Amino acid sequence: MNRSINELLKELTLNEKASICAGLNMWMTKGIERLNIPPVHMYDGTNGIRKTNSDEEMGITTENIPATCYPTGSAIGSSWNTELLHEVGVALGRESKAMDVELLLGPGVNMKRTPLGGRNFEYYSEDPCLTGELGAAFINGIQSEGVGASLKHFAGNNQEFEKMVTSSEIDERTLREIYLSAFERIIKKSDPWTVMCSYNLLNGTYASENEHLLNDILREEWGYEGVVLSDWTAVNDRIRGLKAGLDLEMPGPADYNTKAIVEAVQNGTLAEEQLDRSVARILKLVERVTGNQTAELGEAPDYHALSRQAAAESIVLLKNENSILPLRQEALSSIAVIGRFAKKPRIQGAGSAKVTPTRVDIPWDEMQELAGDSVTLGYAAGYPEDDSVNEGLIQESVALAVNSNVAVLFVGQPEYAESEMHDLQGIELPEHQVKLIQAVAAVQPKCIVVTSSGSALVMRPWVQHVPGVIHSWLSGQGMGRAVAEVLFGQTNPSGKLSETFPVKLSDNPSHMRIRGENGKLYYREGLFVGYRYYDRKELAPQFPFGHGLSYTSFTYTELKVAQGENGVKVSFRLENTGKRKGKEVVQLYVHDEECKWVRPEKELKAFAKIELEPGEKREVVFELEERDFSYYNTKYNRWVAESGYFQIALGSSSRDIRITERLHCDFGKEEISFHKFSLLSEWISDPAAKDVLEQTLNEMNGHVTDKVYLNEEFVGFWEDFPVIKVFQMFGQKWLGERSPDDLIGELISRVGQARNH
Ligand code: BGC
Repeated sequence: MNRSINELLKELTLNEKASICAGLNMWMTKGIERLNIPPVHMYDGTNGIRKTNSDEEMGITTENIPATCYPTGSAIGSSWNTELLHEVGVALGRESKAMDVELLLGPGVNMKRTPLGGRNFEYYSEDPCLTGELGAAFINGIQSEGVGASLKHFAGNNQEFEKMVTSSEIDERTLREIYLSAFERIIKKSDPWTVMCSYNLLNGTYASENEHLLNDILREEWGYEGVVLSDWTAVNDRIRGLKAGLDLEMPGPADYNTKAIVEAVQNGTLAEEQLDRSVARILKLVERVTGNQTAELGEAPDYHALSRQAAAESIVLLKNENSILPLRQEALSSIAVIGRFAKKPRIQGAGSAKVTPTRVDIPWDEMQELAGDSVTLGYAAGYPEDDSVNEGLIQESVALAVNSNVAVLFVGQPEYAESEMHDLQGIELPEHQVKLIQAVAAVQPKCIVVTSSGSALVMRPWVQHVPGVIHSWLSGQGMGRAVAEVLFGQTNPSGKLSETFPVKLSDNPSHMRIRGENGKLYYREGLFVGYRYYDRKELAPQFPFGHGLSYTSFTYTELKVAQGENGVKVSFRLENTGKRKGKEVVQLYVHDEECKWVRPEKELKAFAKIELEPGEKREVVFELEERDFSYYNTKYNRWVAESGYFQIALGSSSRDIRITERLHCDFGKEEISFHKFSLLSEWISDPAAKDVLEQTLNEMNGHVTDKVYLNEEFVGFWEDFPVIKVFQMFGQKWLGERSPDDLIGELISRVGQARNH
């Protein structure tokens, strides 16, 4: 573009302005040739580029242009590695440029409320701090290459069932602390060029026209100035959407809405300045995209190697009894490799995030390569392609396992189960796989199960019978190699679960309300999502949030915490006490010991992934801010950190806390806003208010028999009584015809005056 945005706004006709508020087709914005405004080309995705063969097609059920398929969200979420996310972002930015993609529609960062969410595989975690840090790193990576990102799906879209017609009913505190918090962190740390609104309604209003969400929170509070675009067809009332701050409708051309916008401006129902604001943001996006097209691309880096590295960081070693892993070639002569997924791995989920990979590592091939010549590998399919139970295949596997030194079983959710548009039916493995594992484990005690799924799995019917479990998630095209390297020990596993694996599905806090009814889905479990619930309920999960084993061991010592000018500094020493180089994910949780409002037992506030040689020690330092100690107070509609004692807990998982320290934090005094029904306890906790109240009571005591003194006995009994009621109870004679309302109003203004002096 060779003119400024202001100049362009003057040059564009009303019709042109209205028209560029919708796309040209499925994947492009409209350009205006006469003014040299080029279109922007955008494509999915979240874990790889899904560029269709033509700009007119959705391409969901067809093969698209091949691109690198990285681990899906829940997999890479389990890497807990912000540097890796940045690196993958940079690689995606470069690959996008090579494919003429200017805006990438990702990452997906919605919270996992239920393990049944059909798109859980696309999302990072059940925790907003982990999600927020990873999402920001990913976006900073993409955008450092001059390619835009799209933060999605804003907001409250946590499952697929009837999402287009269901309102997520979420109370404001839960919304802020759980469902918006990751978005907020990402907006502030990475300024994504676009945000994609979700399909669902949020508290009764479509996200695409939700003034509270798009304007009050995103723009006004968080200061977001980029483009908000709609999820594909999420627009309903276009004029309402524009007023709320939805700039770009996708897909286009939506000529009917161009007409509606022009008419609304002409008849005065939409101010032209409101339209101009959206147009200016879209032009800014065009400017950002075109401003970066000069750099020479050079030779493509080895993206496949990066996909393997990312998979290796994502895989989680869940169980390793008697150090059955890694497999030692020198102690083995045969391995039974069982299960179809060994030859046809599941590497991703279905829907708009599905990438046509450039190549796929096959676990069986990679295992054969790494096992070496002295070890023989045998294969049995284990279960059929459909859901039926096939005794013949089970018996064939049992025979192979009996005659081998060890059995490695590849199992997981079937391909069809995890997809956009459908929630999962359950999180148990299919019956034919459960039976297979049980039968093989009965004859071969050295059994290692490699599970694939994008969401938590229930493992109770079999996990106690096998010594080794590796969760490989849906880890993209390099997964086969990465799993083989974990099995044989070339990779020391370092992934940690980004979500809780419950003992059974009904343990999950959202279990009572998983589906909306009559268009409303109430998030009644509130703040208690994921580990926040299991902790509070004192319920043991199968594998907790943050869990993941290593082939080495780490110790945590010398924890120091101190509050300074700029926040709280936490430092401790981490040591690799094992015999192998390895990476530990250290997790910092904060617990508020004294808050007046209910709070989770602990909340993740910081983490770091640290690599140490055997015997190496390192001092790890975290700086926490006041916000890390705050909760969202809906009385004042702001974040509040209450002075008092907090516990800082450092651990290797949310249930493996290694070291803790208490700290008294001073965040200043809470400034109470007094109102008609403020309680006696509130009045006496504020020095100015207490003074005013005491003076008034003295005055009253001169006229009544039942006198009131703010002594321990009186306050002990009446502290939860609104002060207005104290006067109604004891001061009616003194009040005479003056109403208690007037009295309280007057006292509140006296408190205000006293504070100002
Ligand atoms: C999905 C988005 C995606 C868009 C374009 C929608 O169905 O919800 O995540 O970016 O399609 O494919």
